[in-house]
Amino acid sequence: MNRTLEKGKTLLVDGPASVIVASGKVEVFGYSVGSTNKIVIREGKRLPFVVEEKASFNISLGENAEIEETDGSTIPPSWTKAFEELQEIQSKPVVALVLGTADSGKTSFCTYMINKLINKKKKAAILDGDLGQSDIGPPCTVAYALVTKPLTDLFNLEAKNAFFVGITSPSTAIDKVIEGLTTLKKEVLNNNPDYVIINTDGWTEGEEATNYKIRLVKELNPETIFCLHQKDELTTVLDSLKDFKVIMVEFPSTIKQRSREKRRSLRELGYIKYLRNAKVQSIPKNWIEIEENEFGLNRANGNIRQARKIYEFLGMKPLHLAEFKHKISIFVGKTRWISEDAIKKVEDFTRKKVEVVHKGEEEGFLMALYDDERKFLGIGILQEVDYRRQTLNILTPVSKKISRVALGKVKLDKNFRESLVFAEENSTDISSFRRLF
Ligand SMILES: Nc1ncnc2c1ncn2[C@@H]1O[C@H](COP(=O)(O)OP(=O)(O)O)[C@@H](O)[C@H]1O
Ligand SMILES: [Mg+2]
Repeated sequence: MNRTLEKGKTLLVDGPASVIVASGKVEVFGYSVGSTNKIVIREGKRLPFVVEEKASFNISLGENAEIEETDGSTIPPSWTKAFEELQEIQSKPVVALVLGTADSGKTSFCTYMINKLINKKKKAAILDGDLGQSDIGPPCTVAYALVTKPLTDLFNLEAKNAFFVGITSPSTAIDKVIEGLTTLKKEVLNNNPDYVIINTDGWTEGEEATNYKIRLVKELNPETIFCLHQKDELTTVLDSLKDFKVIMVEFPSTIKQRSREKRRSLRELGYIKYLRNAKVQSIPKNWIEIEENEFGLNRANGNIRQARKIYEFLGMKPLHLAEFKHKISIFVGKTRWISEDAIKKVEDFTRKKVEVVHKGEEEGFLMALYDDERKFLGIGILQEVDYRRQTLNILTPVSKKISRVALGKVKLDKNFRESLVFAEENSTDISSFRRLF
């Protein structure tokens, strides 16, 4: 369809859709889009096309896509002012951190700031700390990119490096998120940017979230904080950040709130982006290092004498034995059954809780793959553990030599849809989560 809009109007397009600006002068988050490029709008995203001079659009809408015309620009004046204030900061490089609740416009504000900096020929980097809605790296990672040209969506960027946290919500991985962001911030600064924009997650409610945000800000120590606010969502956080330069910016009036389902489908686009052209690689376990995980795939069978005794009690040799401080996981075939009596004997003998793991329960887990210098190479999905041949079959597009793997706490099905994220569904440990199978 074609649309023509007068100067001073904004065309709001909700994806999935694509738009070509056939004529006129139009800006998307500060990026003056030409008539050559086709702009793709992801499902779950809304893009504002602000008309600077009368413009005509060729629009193709996907399923459930929508368009709407509105008067004026949907870029709040405080965003423009915020950019001016950013430029006034003398010390270089300038690190600016963005705070806000979920769906408050954080990603869009970051996109706007980055585009304005690029327009000014500044060297800009974006560090994405939003685990649950990661725009740059794969979901469950924090990641950064050095931006060289303006863009309509941070999702179009390829991560220069990423730090795998392995979960979609920071609430159960606070230390790891902070470690990831401080580590990557150092790496970003080694690229000598003029400006670093740090995006954060939308977890702001409750004491835990407040303390986490305060700690995060103090560890990252930005020159300035941009706070997207509607009412007083972040007052408690800001009360503890009096030493920092805080600039309040408006929550866009045309923001599009997203359901949990929409957030999940946006995340799944992220898995698809980083699992495109994936192939199954069969890697011998003794060729790689497996980081500590709750399944115990990295753990050996404990001491031989004890293992033999356990096989005796079980009347069979399990596929794998993983000994932990308080439990022993016994891996058996998909349909294999172990009697309560045998389990009791093993528990009495080892004085540890026995957990029976059926082959297949480990399948589908998101994995991070690293080289021998622990550089993040990409993500993969654990397809199968072949206990007999002692190999891991991993579905991944990574072609470089993999020397180390880490298991996440997210499972993906064959269509890269999240089949379970136990942090988001319920914060319980692996045993109660396993009982769901
Ligand atoms: N200034 C704006 N004008 C129009 N739509 C906007 C604006 N800012 C954000 N949006 C839309 O609102 C939704 C939520 O914004 P987003 O930046 O993704 O928020 P967050 O990163 O805080 O979750 C997105 O679809 C986005 O495109
Ligand atoms: Mg976001």
